[in-house]
Amino acid sequence: MHDAFYEAETLSDPFEYFAKAREEEPVRRTVDPVGREIYIVTSASAVSDVARRMDDFSSQFSHLLMAGNAHPEVEEILKQEELGTGLLLSTDDPDHKRFRAQVNAAFATGRVANMAPDIEVLVDELIDGFIEKGHCNFTDEFAVLLPTYIIADILGLPREDYGRVKEWSDAIIGLVGRMGTKESEIAAAELIVKTRRYIKDMVAARRREPRDDLVSNLIHVDVEGVTPLTDLEVGALAFETSVAGNETTRNTLMSGMVQLIRHPDQMQALIDDPSLTGNAVEEMLRYETPASSMWRIARHDTTLEGVDLPAGAVLLLRYDAASRDPAIFQNPEEFNIFRKNANRHFAFGAPSPHRCLGQMLARKELNIALPKILSRMKNIRIAEGSQTDYMPALLFHVIGHLNLEFDPGPKVGARLEGLVKARK
Ligand code: HEM
Repeated sequence: MHDAFYEAETLSDPFEYFAKAREEEPVRRTVDPVGREIYIVTSASAVSDVARRMDDFSSQFSHLLMAGNAHPEVEEILKQEELGTGLLLSTDDPDHKRFRAQVNAAFATGRVANMAPDIEVLVDELIDGFIEKGHCNFTDEFAVLLPTYIIADILGLPREDYGRVKEWSDAIIGLVGRMGTKESEIAAAELIVKTRRYIKDMVAARRREPRDDLVSNLIHVDVEGVTPLTDLEVGALAFETSVAGNETTRNTLMSGMVQLIRHPDQMQALIDDPSLTGNAVEEMLRYETPASSMWRIARHDTTLEGVDLPAGAVLLLRYDAASRDPAIFQNPEEFNIFRKNANRHFAFGAPSPHRCLGQMLARKELNIALPKILSRMKNIRIAEGSQTDYMPALLFHVIGHLNLEFDPGPKVGARLEGLVKARK
């Protein structure tokens, strides 16, 4: 019999379960619906301990990301075009150290390091798309487009191809962690194969003719003592980076807006004093923790907070539960943008070399988007057709859909021309 945690109702709203588990058994052995033994880790101290003890706990969990929902046909399709996956997220040292050093270096240079003005233009352009109407499909017209367009630009895709990143991202998410139909998984796998070909072509083109974009940076990055990346590795890292931050940034925007609308006093305080934005963003990340958990695997027999774990034990680090641990946060179940230590959340993982690579970029996007939304979209309300309940998902904390209404306002006439145009 599987643990109550895996019931749809608990998966969509797990916080009561976590509060009890954290107190009784912060490292709890459970059995999931397909009979796998999984240790659910809910306290901030245990989550931090596992992330830190990389000699005891491995990140080689790519098999778990796909487990339970991949049909044999899907595997066959994916084999048509190989390109490594999870070179960062689900790899251990020494490979992880090598890849991460290079991606960090590639991210720290050129365009990526100086994205703020472009993000501002894009946010204004997206708001221009609906501001005169007085209502929008916030999910599709804003929250999905902001992170995908920004990462498409960073990678160096031409403007007409920006929309592809959303498709790639949806395809990956469709295969990871959710139970899709066979047809939807086959369609997702076919799209992933197409994407791998697109990325391989792009890497070859940048090898011949470098530009100021992430793919070129990855090809030419030179970290002392580290072997340069092969084209296949560059492609895999570009793909991983392009999908890693989309769903998460989108969901922070959507559920963050819902929380602000549900807390009108806090929203007004933020409108009156935009210098509160930084802390409000941290509280949105803490409260929602959109990448709600991640796997680790015990490398050998070991113990965690007094619990014996056999070699191969599968752990689910609950970043969402750690972000609401009363040992760190007062009244953790309360959304409060004035919270002094909101930034001690685990939304980007626990302190470790695997902690989110894109956290600076995500923070930049959210910190630029929020005050622009609040200053241009006045009197903002949740509109009909929204689904603000959370979906029952294991690794993501995701609401269904958000439509907004607001007072119509003027366009400002912004358009992000993007890298390719800018260099012509
Ligand atoms: C609000 C937005 C975001 C959230 C909440 C988030 C959250 C996370 C979390 C929880 C992890 C796993 C850490 C671990 O288990 O140790 C992670 C890893 C990662 N994230 Fe993010 N992320 C966000 C945005 C981004 C963006 C914008 C990018 C890319 C530009 C990105 C790229 C990555 C990569 C490449 C990894 C793997 C890092 C590694 O294992 O070395 N993320 N992120």
